[in-house]
Amino acid sequence: MKQMVIEGNNILTGDIHIGGAKNSAVALIPASILANGTSTIKNVPNISDRDALIDILKILNCDVDLEESTLKIDTTNLKNTLIDEEHSKKLRASYYFMGALLGREKYVEIYIPGGCNIGARPIDIHIDGFKALGATVTTEGNKYILKADKLIGTDIYLRFQSVGATINLMFASVLAEGKTIIHNAAKEAEIENIADYLISMGANITGAGTDEITIVGVNKLHGGEITVLPDRIEAGTYIILGALVGKNLCIKSIIPKHLEALTSKLKDMASDITINEDNIVISKVDNLKPTNIKTLVYPGFPTDIGQPMSVLLTQANGTSLFEETIWENRMGHVPSLNKMGANITVKGMSSMIIGPSKLHGDEVVATDLRGGAALVLAGLTATGTTVINDVEHILRGYENIEEKLAQVGAKIEIKEI
Ligand code: EPU
Repeated sequence: MKQMVIEGNNILTGDIHIGGAKNSAVALIPASILANGTSTIKNVPNISDRDALIDILKILNCDVDLEESTLKIDTTNLKNTLIDEEHSKKLRASYYFMGALLGREKYVEIYIPGGCNIGARPIDIHIDGFKALGATVTTEGNKYILKADKLIGTDIYLRFQSVGATINLMFASVLAEGKTIIHNAAKEAEIENIADYLISMGANITGAGTDEITIVGVNKLHGGEITVLPDRIEAGTYIILGALVGKNLCIKSIIPKHLEALTSKLKDMASDITINEDNIVISKVDNLKPTNIKTLVYPGFPTDIGQPMSVLLTQANGTSLFEETIWENRMGHVPSLNKMGANITVKGMSSMIIGPSKLHGDEVVATDLRGGAALVLAGLTATGTTVINDVEHILRGYENIEEKLAQVGAKIEIKEI
């Protein structure tokens, strides 16, 4: 087990470089098996979800070569074997092998995916879409078996703009016969990045990034190449950190347009923020205004930045209301924040945050990835020492977090206990 120890209340200054987006990389890696041959993914973040997916590629007999942040995947000798429970349970994104293997092999055996405990996380929208394309889906205990003689393009309407279902259905339809239209598709920036990768392999996809994506099936895909776009959630987390304890903290290598829902809120709160072409500079101010936040699908306020943002709301001058609309269980960090001196009352998927609170260090536990990141921000803001247990959750999605924060002046250490 890993534990993080933070000595808080230091002003942080300097540059933080943002890596490739976790939620794009975790789909791009499985997408590689749709191609015959070798594909290259650049700017892959150094996170444990990456390693879990590489392990699954190896189970499928792919050759994988990782050099710094460049991943080369050769699928020439792919063997379509069962993806066992131990490996599929390690992360949510293992379910992208459903769409990718169904698309290429027309047969998949895989156990149900894992991932953060932030809600029920059903996959019915994915399954309904696979069935609409002509697959039969059966379950044996926790195992899914998906098969099809052939997949035939069709119109698919998603009852919710699900990120995962949109991506999985792109995977299942790129090699199908004829035209598929995904209606009410998710519009997250990552979806365009993933479509661009498939297009580089020879796929015919238009409309990615809008709510209607059209895919015309092709017979075969060849090796492709893509650069993972910058991680807007990692960037957002560190921008909030700058508002908490920064002095000209510069968050670099980002696409500010992808962060507008956050930066417009920070401006409403009267933060000291400067938005440049590919970086954002932010400093702490004393009189932050409270605000109300409701998470929404892209381009709304991202659910994945909600937990880190709640820490900033504890420092605003007055009462803020926070409403989560995507996941039913994204308040796991609140008991820890309250233990550290915050004044947050949770009611269902909403919370009321009364600030400003003087946060003090304590021993707390990361219950999930973004909740864990929120505790890191709280620890860096608090006086005294904060000990965060179960840091593995955080390492799933934040690359080199210890080094990146130490470089701007944080006193932070990850220990094996
Ligand atoms: N949903 C269903 N049925 C489905 C699929 C989704 O009811 O078949 C519901 C979910 O229960 C949830 C909502 O639809 O209430 C949104 O789910 P979505 O499918 O959009 O989420 P996801 O693809 O499972 C990805 C990210 C999440 C991020 C969400 C929303 C990955 C691996 N995960 O999840 O990221 O919160 O989109 O933007 O890409 C994180 O990074 O911390 C994280 C949880």
